[in-house]
Amino acid sequence: MEGLTVLVTGGAGFIGAHVCEALYAAGITPVVLDDLSMGQRDFVKWGPFVEGRVGDSQGVRRVCDTYRPAVCIHLAGLIEVGQSMLQPDRYFAVNVDETRVLLDTLAAAGVWNVIYSSSAAVYATQDTPLTETDPLDPQSPYARSKWMVEQQLAARADTGMRSVIFRYFNAAGGHPTGDIGESHWPETHLIPSILDVAVGRRKMLTLWGTTHPTADGTCIRDYVHVSDVAQAHVMAVHHLMAGGVSQTFNVGAGVGYSVKAVIDAAEFVVGHLIPITEGPPRPGDVPSLVADTTRINQWGWMPRRSDLHTMIADAWQWRGRSNPVLDR
Ligand code: UFG
Repeated sequence: MEGLTVLVTGGAGFIGAHVCEALYAAGITPVVLDDLSMGQRDFVKWGPFVEGRVGDSQGVRRVCDTYRPAVCIHLAGLIEVGQSMLQPDRYFAVNVDETRVLLDTLAAAGVWNVIYSSSAAVYATQDTPLTETDPLDPQSPYARSKWMVEQQLAARADTGMRSVIFRYFNAAGGHPTGDIGESHWPETHLIPSILDVAVGRRKMLTLWGTTHPTADGTCIRDYVHVSDVAQAHVMAVHHLMAGGVSQTFNVGAGVGYSVKAVIDAAEFVVGHLIPITEGPPRPGDVPSLVADTTRINQWGWMPRRSDLHTMIADAWQWRGRSNPVLDR
C-alpha cells in the first residue's frame, strides 16, 4: 500500500488518532480533516493536518485536490446518545446534513471509496448477540442519524460509491503509552467517567439505571479496544482497494459486561473502591448491546487488546494522571 493516501475525517479524535497510527504502520498516509471541536491537534502525528468541517464543500474539495486520497474514512460527528435526546436538530445537521455534503464532494472529486463509522445503537435490541442482518430500530436521534447515513451510502452504491460500514460497539481503552485517550468535554462515557472518580477529578459515579431487564439491573455493553477498532479500518482500506464489495460489519469484542461489572474491574485496576450513587435510566439507553462478530472474524479480524482489564488499564494510562486537557 506504499504511496496510498487516505482522508480521515475526525482524525484528531480518540478513535481517529488510533486509526491514523494503524494506517501509518501499514504504509498508508493519513490526511486528517478535523474541526478540533472535539479532537486535539497534538493527536495528529502520522500525516498532514487540515483544520475544517466535513460540511465545507470547498474546503473538502481543496483537500481532495491537494492530497488525492483513494479512500475516505469518515469518523467526524457528534457521538453522545444522551446529548442527542436534548439536541436532535444539531445531531441531524452535523451527522446527516454535513455528511451528505461530504459524500457529494467526494464523488465530485473522484473519491469513490468510503469507510463509515456507524453504531451498534442502530439495532432493535430484542435479541443479543446482534448480527448485521438483524432488524434496525434506532432509539435516539444519534442512532437515527447513523442509520440515515447508512441509508445514504446504500443509495449511493448505484452511483459507483463503495463503502464499508462499521457498526462500532463501545470503543474503549487508549494508547498504552498514555499519550492518546478519550477527552470529551464533558465526559459522559462509562470507563473514563469511572477513572475520573478514581483519580479525584469527579466525586462520584452515577449509575444510570439499575432496573434494566438484565441480570444485575444495569446496562450491558460490548467494549472493544480502540486499537482493535483501528485495525479493522486498515483491513477495510485493503478490501476496498482490492475491489471488494460494499459491506457492513459489527465491530465489537462479542462479550457483554454490565455497568456494575465494569466498575468492579476498574476497582481492581486502580486498586481502590469507586464511590457510586444510583440515578434514573439515561434517556435513549437500551438495556443490552452485544455483537455477533462472526462476519468480521471471517474477514480475518480478531480482537487483540479487548479484554476488560487491558482496556481499563490502557485508559488509566491517560486518565489516571494529571492531564492539562482533562484538568482544565
Ligand atoms: N453509564 C453510567 N454512568 C455514567 C456513564 C455511563 O451508568 O456516568 C452507563 C450508561 O447509562 C450506559 C453504559 O454506562 O448504560 C455505557 O454508557 P456510555 O456512555 O459509555 O456508552 P453508550 O453505550 O451510551 O454509547 C457508546 C457510544 C455511542 C455508541 C454506543 C454503541 O457513545 O457512540 O456506545 O454501543 F453508539
